[in-house]
Amino acid sequence: MSVDVPATSSPSSPPSDRPRPVSIVPPGATIGILGGGQLGRMTALAARHMGYRVATLDPVPDAPCAQVADHRFTAHLDDAIAARRLAAVCDVVTYEFENVAAPVAAALEEAALVRPSSRVLAVSQDRVREKETFAALGLPVAPFRPVTSWPELEASVGVVGYPCLLKTATGGYDGKGQRWLHGPDDLSTAWEWATSHGSGCGDRGKGESARRFILEARVPFVRELSVIVARNPQGETAVYPVAENIHRRGILHVSIVPARVSAGVASRAQEFAVRLAHGLDAVGVLGLELFLTGDEVLYVNEFAPRPHNSGHYTIEACVTSQFQQHVRTVCGLPVGSTALLRPAVMVNLLGQHMSRMQASLGRLLRVEGVHLHVYGKSEARRDRKMGHVTIIAESVEEALEGAQQVWDLVRAPDDPPHVA
Ligand SMILES: Nc1ncnc2c1ncn2[C@@H]1O[C@H](COP(=O)(O)OP(=O)(O)OP(=O)(O)O)[C@@H](O)[C@H]1O
Ligand SMILES: [Mg+2]
Repeated sequence: MSVDVPATSSPSSPPSDRPRPVSIVPPGATIGILGGGQLGRMTALAARHMGYRVATLDPVPDAPCAQVADHRFTAHLDDAIAARRLAAVCDVVTYEFENVAAPVAAALEEAALVRPSSRVLAVSQDRVREKETFAALGLPVAPFRPVTSWPELEASVGVVGYPCLLKTATGGYDGKGQRWLHGPDDLSTAWEWATSHGSGCGDRGKGESARRFILEARVPFVRELSVIVARNPQGETAVYPVAENIHRRGILHVSIVPARVSAGVASRAQEFAVRLAHGLDAVGVLGLELFLTGDEVLYVNEFAPRPHNSGHYTIEACVTSQFQQHVRTVCGLPVGSTALLRPAVMVNLLGQHMSRMQASLGRLLRVEGVHLHVYGKSEARRDRKMGHVTIIAESVEEALEGAQQVWDLVRAPDDPPHVA
């Protein structure tokens, strides 16, 4: 069920955008989600609020999104036949995970409405293409070089300098598939790691073994930031407040909103996200990660063409959540207000936090302004994202106090005592 209507031009459309017919997918229709994780689950729940039906494809039958979907397809994400079966019952297909095989998405596009496009997906899957795209759009990036061989690695450190970071071009997430080089002594061990590593990066990586890497200069950042932006097929955009993110062991730990940065930095970061969304002709929600240095220089690091972990705060703290926004935009509906209702702090709950969380529920749920989200994953493995907590308050300081109370209840023995 989708209807073609002429697009109206909007104030945020770039001037070159001509009105073109756009497929609108109204409530009552079915949204297909490739990937069955927590991002799919929260998207599906937002879709259901709006009267959509949801179909999902994931190798795990009881995956978080499958638990709340109307139709479940159990197959690997690069199973093109299963993806076509899913598309056959859907009016629009989207992703909750950017390592869905781009050729599968491209093949689906011939038979179904796929948003965002497989082209956007392909850019996000390859760090070299991603950085080249940023640079072509005039977005500031740290010096980088593609690396596919030992001579290229040697030549690239000469250009990029130490310290630098060797990352697999594809398949990485949560800091997996990365190796620091601090000086010439690290060069040969880094290459040994690279040649034995390939691009397979854990249970959500694609597991392909092509040896393509990117070498990036280290950005001496003082803050990591992210911006969520939504764009519909008509070219209308909406950008969220900037989040300040703290990672621990490469995994997002806490997001603080609004970020404690100057208004100038915040608006530049938001402008970069909007420019990227337009530049990619992206449809849906997109999360852009950035670094901020001590002298207020911003560097763009990477983006994900889907709702982002650092945007979970939008569920309670914004007029329109990133998940509802994703549904609106992939369905060709108007973007919603991104206004921040209250400052917020989000804390991720990993496998090692779950038993303490369960044991302290009585106290945790009494923390002022707390909202608990649990994703329904059966196995609480260490470092696996199992849920999150968002605390909303009158100020960032108050929200951080609430986050500290939650952290005191859930943190594992080897976690630092301070939440942020
Ligand atoms: N060029 C850099 N300079 C300094 N630190 C970096 C650089 N690149 C990455 N990092 C650090 O490593 C973390 C993970 O890197 P990045 O975000 O590129 O990869 P990822 O594993 O795909 O992460 P995600 O889970 O966000 O997708 C960053 O959040 C940052 O802390
Ligand atoms: Mg990242």
